[in-house]
Amino acid sequence: MGGILMTGGAGYIGSHAVYAFLDAGHDVVVIDDLSTGARANLPKEVAFYEGSVGDRSFMERVIRAHRPEGVLHFAGSVSVPEAVADPVKYYRNNTASGLELLDAISAHGVRYVVFSSTAAVYGVPEGVPVAETAPLRPINPYGWSKLFFEQQLRDLAAASGLLYGILRYFNVAGADPKGRTGHSGPAATHLIKVACQVAAGLRPSMSVFGTDYGTRDGTCVRDFIDVADLADAHVAVYQHIRATGESVVFNCGNGRGYSVLEVLRAVESEAGRSLRATYAARRPGDVPELVADPSLLFQSLQWRPKRTFADTVATALAWERRGL
Ligand code: UFG
Repeated sequence: MGGILMTGGAGYIGSHAVYAFLDAGHDVVVIDDLSTGARANLPKEVAFYEGSVGDRSFMERVIRAHRPEGVLHFAGSVSVPEAVADPVKYYRNNTASGLELLDAISAHGVRYVVFSSTAAVYGVPEGVPVAETAPLRPINPYGWSKLFFEQQLRDLAAASGLLYGILRYFNVAGADPKGRTGHSGPAATHLIKVACQVAAGLRPSMSVFGTDYGTRDGTCVRDFIDVADLADAHVAVYQHIRATGESVVFNCGNGRGYSVLEVLRAVESEAGRSLRATYAARRPGDVPELVADPSLLFQSLQWRPKRTFADTVATALAWERRGL
């Protein structure tokens, strides 16, 4: 099967995708600037180059050496609060660097691109579940920086015959069931990771941001997709666009929402201990309820997530407990 170049392949979602594509029989080449990713997340045998997507001569060198038929573009900056504080960084890393990537790949005959987009392109949705046809109106520079790349990709595809898969991730959680990779970095702000760090004794306590939302228990509701399922979905999407010659845009979620308090209870039940959590003010920019309508993904690919929510919590906790 044709070779694939993964940008950001040493990061959280990218490294899970590396294992999934290797298991599916693809040759994989990874580039990563290691700003947040780690070489240790990758199998030793994978070809790895340290460098940035925005570095044109570096990218051309890697593409010329490996001639990939497809690119999975995971590299990018991912923190909403950071994007609000430093929008230039986000437009540089997610939009401008992405344009360099597209220019480089179109000059070298790459035929397929799968892009890590985000539910943040929908901003505050009018209702849930959110379908791909919902209005695209981000409320922060993170969402805009990803939406601008989506548009660049669509325009280039229209002009060149490049085929794409745009995947809009909802909340991603969990870790590789075999423990080979997971969500690295101590400074994480993501709910399940933070709760598992508390459960593993790596943080003394956590906050529940906002208990007065108009949701079933007053806390925010999110749709969590297991990172190993998401990695498998990338394989299915890649094979689909290759087989059908059709570009696609899919929401990636489970279609089921869990409140922040329900998440905490699930982590407590998996850990067998109660978590020290304090009720705090709303976190600025949080959307009360974000749940995907994933039916297009499920129906188009005849694909379903394999892991339950409890599985996701279990692998996330096992990852935080590794080495303890
Ligand atoms: N939360 C807490 N305490 C914590 C951490 C989070 O109560 O310690 C709450 C948040 O306030 C929010 C929910 O848990 O209500 C989920 O927060 P996360 O930070 O885990 O995830 P977000 O939904 O804010 O962000 C995710 C992705 C972003 C993406 C966004 C789309 O991480 O990359 O969804 O809107 F942009």
